Amino acid sequence: MKKRVFLTRRIHDFALKELKKNYHVEVHSGKTPIPKPKLRVKIKDIEGLICFPYDKIDKELIDLAKNLRVISTYSVGFDHIDIDYAKKNKIRVGHTPEVLTDATADLAFSLMIDVLRRVSEGDRIIRTGKWIEIFGAYDYVGLDLQGKTLGIFGLGRIGSTLAKRAKAFDMKIIYHNRKPIPKNKEESLGVKYVSFNKLISQSDVISIHAPHTKQTDKLFDKRVFSMMKKSAFLVNTARGNIVNEKDLITALKKKTIAGAALDVFQIEPICENHPLTKIQNVVLAPHIGSSTKETRAKMAKITIKNLKLGINGKKPTYSVGY
Ligand code: DGY
Repeated sequence: MKKRVFLTRRIHDFALKELKKNYHVEVHSGKTPIPKPKLRVKIKDIEGLICFPYDKIDKELIDLAKNLRVISTYSVGFDHIDIDYAKKNKIRVGHTPEVLTDATADLAFSLMIDVLRRVSEGDRIIRTGKWIEIFGAYDYVGLDLQGKTLGIFGLGRIGSTLAKRAKAFDMKIIYHNRKPIPKNKEESLGVKYVSFNKLISQSDVISIHAPHTKQTDKLFDKRVFSMMKKSAFLVNTARGNIVNEKDLITALKKKTIAGAALDVFQIEPICENHPLTKIQNVVLAPHIGSSTKETRAKMAKITIKNLKLGINGKKPTYSVGY
């Protein structure tokens, strides 16, 4: 009998076709996340699960998944999965790093340019019929990237790739990690290690590229915002929960910091009336860090490869935990 695979959302046709050759495949239809009660039922019988960053695969679900051998997430982030509990239950977990590094770094960089040069704000001005002044000395002025200090929180794959982009734009780059990277790598990237507090207080733009963990949960809060330069910007393409959104909104409204550009939020999707949508010096993106045609196809390939390996008891190519 064919092993059963469940997908909480449709992926590329080529990937589905490939899966159907070997497995009995079922897909949750629709564009919104599968309701938890439905997933509770589905997870009981399957050997393989393909999920997305918004599917919370917690202890309760894992306890129900008596036959589950692999969870393959269509994302690099895996904070939505209880990795330790999956490991305890000998369930393999696969994810999709590397292939989305460039796309995500590009998005972080484009958000930074956007918020500094007020591109989206200008777009809103035109669309709402408010473009009256032309070419005035003080109209719609943004800021140069050149010479500004970019602070990268988490200099891993994506953070390092962002550093390369920033170097080409003549930015000064400082970073903070749990540990500094080797000196020769620092030199080739043109980056300097600083303490967390220095990163916060010296940067003109802070870009977050760390995973969401117990240590980074709501790390960027009112204390951190009060340490940032009043002229500084925050860019987040990592995870919404690394930032205390309520504190960020207060900091933006009180002009404790100059602006923010966000691809990720504490609860997604955010609605049109979300307080962030009312603030002009904020650029918002609908969690599209990895969202290019090329990258998403590569992610699909890895997702099914990880699944196939895990379902056969082997370690996925990109494995987390067990
Ligand atoms: C991921 O894959 O985890 C990222 O959130 C993509 O933007």
